[in-house]
Amino acid sequence: MTFRIRVNDRNFDADPRPGQCLRTYLRDRGWFGVKKGCDAGDCGACTVHVDGEPVHSCLYPAVRAEGRAVTTVEGLADPDGELHPVQRRFLDAQGFQCGFCTAGFLMTTAKLDADQLTDLPRALKGNLCRCTGYRAIEDAVRGVRHVEEPCAGQSVGRSLGAPAGPQVVTGTARYTFDIEVEGLLHMKLLRSPHPHARIVSLDTADALRVPGVHAVFTHEDAPERLFSTARHEHPTEDPDDTRVLDDVVRFVGQRVAAVVADSEAAAEEGCRRIVVAYEPLPYVLDPEEAMRPGAPVIHPKGPETRIARARDNVVGEVHGEIGSVGEGFADADVVYEDTFRTQRVQHASLETHGALAWFEENEDGGERIVVRSSTQVPFLTRRALCALYDLPPDGVRVVAGRVGGGFGGKQEMLAEDIVVLAAMRLKRPVKLEFTRAEQFFGATTRHPFTIGVKAGAKRDGTLTALQLRVVSNTGAYGNHGPAVMFHSVGESMAVYRAPHKKVNAFSVYTNCVPAGAFRGYGLGQVTFAVESAMDELAHRLGLDPLVLRERNIIGPGEHLVSPGGEEEDLHIASYGLDQCLQVVRDALAGDRSADEAPAGWLVGQGTAMSMIATGPPGGHFADATVTLLEDGGYDIAVGTAEFGNGTTTVHQQITAGALGTTPDRITIRQSDTDVVRHDTGAFGSAGTVVAGKAVMQAANGLAERILTFAAEHARTPRGLCRLLADAVECDGRPVPLKELHEAAHDKGVPLTADGHWGGSPRSVAFNAQWFRIAVDPGTGEIRILRSVHSADAGRVMNPLQCRGQVEGGVAQALGATLFEQVLVDDGGKVITPAFRRYRLPAYADVPRTEVHFTQTSDAIGPLGAKSMSESPFNPVAPAFANALRDATGVRFTELPLLRDRVWLALEEHRAAGGVPGRPTGRHPSREGSV
Ligand code: FES
Repeated sequence: MTFRIRVNDRNFDADPRPGQCLRTYLRDRGWFGVKKGCDAGDCGACTVHVDGEPVHSCLYPAVRAEGRAVTTVEGLADPDGELHPVQRRFLDAQGFQCGFCTAGFLMTTAKLDADQLTDLPRALKGNLCRCTGYRAIEDAVRGVRHVEEPCAGQSVGRSLGAPAGPQVVTGTARYTFDIEVEGLLHMKLLRSPHPHARIVSLDTADALRVPGVHAVFTHEDAPERLFSTARHEHPTEDPDDTRVLDDVVRFVGQRVAAVVADSEAAAEEGCRRIVVAYEPLPYVLDPEEAMRPGAPVIHPKGPETRIARARDNVVGEVHGEIGSVGEGFADADVVYEDTFRTQRVQHASLETHGALAWFEENEDGGERIVVRSSTQVPFLTRRALCALYDLPPDGVRVVAGRVGGGFGGKQEMLAEDIVVLAAMRLKRPVKLEFTRAEQFFGATTRHPFTIGVKAGAKRDGTLTALQLRVVSNTGAYGNHGPAVMFHSVGESMAVYRAPHKKVNAFSVYTNCVPAGAFRGYGLGQVTFAVESAMDELAHRLGLDPLVLRERNIIGPGEHLVSPGGEEEDLHIASYGLDQCLQVVRDALAGDRSADEAPAGWLVGQGTAMSMIATGPPGGHFADATVTLLEDGGYDIAVGTAEFGNGTTTVHQQITAGALGTTPDRITIRQSDTDVVRHDTGAFGSAGTVVAGKAVMQAANGLAERILTFAAEHARTPRGLCRLLADAVECDGRPVPLKELHEAAHDKGVPLTADGHWGGSPRSVAFNAQWFRIAVDPGTGEIRILRSVHSADAGRVMNPLQCRGQVEGGVAQALGATLFEQVLVDDGGKVITPAFRRYRLPAYADVPRTEVHFTQTSDAIGPLGAKSMSESPFNPVAPAFANALRDATGVRFTELPLLRDRVWLALEEHRAAGGVPGRPTGRHPSREGSV
């Protein structure tokens, strides 16, 4: 009997493969709106309707759909193209950022009845979002409209919708893997079971006999050249310690071999059949142990690799002192000293890492390789591939589709190098798509830190000295290791005015899964320690923690000083820290949220603040071109990638403002190395302040050119011409832009302009977070009664979008504060390689945070704007820990603040004679359970 399935009112009769799930069956037939987030039924990104019922299609056997009607997000709108009401609501509330989860939320929401709408935590428990913090989704589900209408020439500062919104809600936005490539081969990776081992031999013969397997690649096929998977404008920021495939493996999960086959199943079978003989080597998982004499040396390499002290496993270090901390502590009336620990956290972007590579004909009839990648850094990836394989820049094109979340994790080259190797050898298109499990043991994480902090203050709260000892566990490879460590001790110390400061910081190799760039770039870890210390000083001095901070924070116009080294191009080009703290004061005044605490629970409140540079140091470059098109619209070409951070919307708004038009008349081409000369990439919150500035220059330049040409064309003085939404008016006579383009074209005058910004000088942005929480002393359960965040983003370009960044940052930080952790066992193996074991925050876990923006305008950022993607993360954990200290009297120094850890600490506090809410002066041990 013929298999028959009806999808979005079309019949399909191809038999599913044995064991095939409905998700892959649908995607194989081009329904790319059905996403893969986990393939384990945890995230809901693959939700479709089967006979009207929402199901996770990754768990649903395709054969069970026989004879049934399946609806995907592409079939949600009616046949005339009229959007379904939930699609409209998600647009009105902008209930998405990267949009990778959106189809799943739409399919779930479309079937909610009135009862379910009253219990959204339960109704939405099957869908995860990593970007939004769920508030925008809640507003979308409830039909709250936030989007404003565009207005010609007045786009900046308005809550306009993302240009890709209609594609996101209809499932037609094309992410990395949402394309069909003829003759595509699939790659799977065999990964190391050992934390440290030499590969003695590899037998691939049996793997090559698997039907459909085309090739197996091992270290013998890989270039000898060392590189770093981290991508920076200056490659010298990272050590060269990595090979595409190596004969030594340094963590459980490292690539050992790559199998390329007609199907993923065949490639997986090929991996199973490879026989590897390993010589296990001694390994070390703890960074302090790794620095001790006699520890296994993980990278016995020379200075050419830029490893600071290879024999001590120290990949980078920074040491410095301003004044004399010895004198400073001697001057203090109170000194607080403790050691803080942060855990390994995964980015968990819903779209996993991966890339496709194929050859295309170039303009001169030759061939070049095209790489389509889930990357935040297409230009830097091209540069690395050229260096690795000795290819000319025009021999490689790197393109990013829409990227399904990054958070810094895609500022790495984790897939592109090996698919290019395979595509070059096989002369066939090759794809590698990470599984969710591989994200946990084969991608990167946040660096776990140990931070020894010592702070001294006079009786009135004036700081006398601040000292840090930081040990960062960079894992088996040094990608971003030195830079994260350096950044972590920069703004976190510079924001305070202590006369004596000292830092010793180390980034250390271990045989753990490598860490990498992650939202905040190390600042979140050190801010946890410093802001906890400030709070503790205030408690011990009997001062209001806000007063202690106000007494010691830097002020407008002050020089930024950090003992880790000066960053000469960093300035306070606008100052909103005082306003950030005032928002907290205002929240405190008259706050009644404590009334909502259950009887018998302990209640406390806590604050923390942070400062962050508005762009990466050492140069971050962006080019942009804005052009008047034949049809009278405009085109922006800009290199930076869009991964949900909203830069596309901001670039459109900047351009619309400069050209006096509306965003709908502007198209954008981006994240393609064919588009513009160079762009360092979408990281370090550079999309608005660096690429945005290049776009602004280009748009202003084009406006100037159009007006000059129009004046000549109309033979009027230049001053009598002005730009309208779709025309140029000269001396009261409008000339449609379409006509003007034609006239300019006839005369050979190009109406296009370029912009370039070097990302320097840089400014700083500020944030403050306040929580009121309640703690059940009997169980350790914590409830957030109120959450307030203030952000100094300079001039806010798009309030709705910027608020979403803050809400998403706070939610992500809450996950890291309360429960997220990548656990590694004694053998170096990640034992939490799935969402349900790792626990990603769900709708029910995230409270609504009140977001307030300060009134500042930056002297450096475009139109007064500052960046606001990374920074909201940083003050969340210390604010929470400070609230917990206020409620319980216990200073928690280790993340995450798991319920059992909290309960255990309270028990120890009681056993030591402590009264809840009052400290005993000793710090309980905090061993959390797995
Ligand atoms: Fe939900 Fe990105 S918008 S995962």
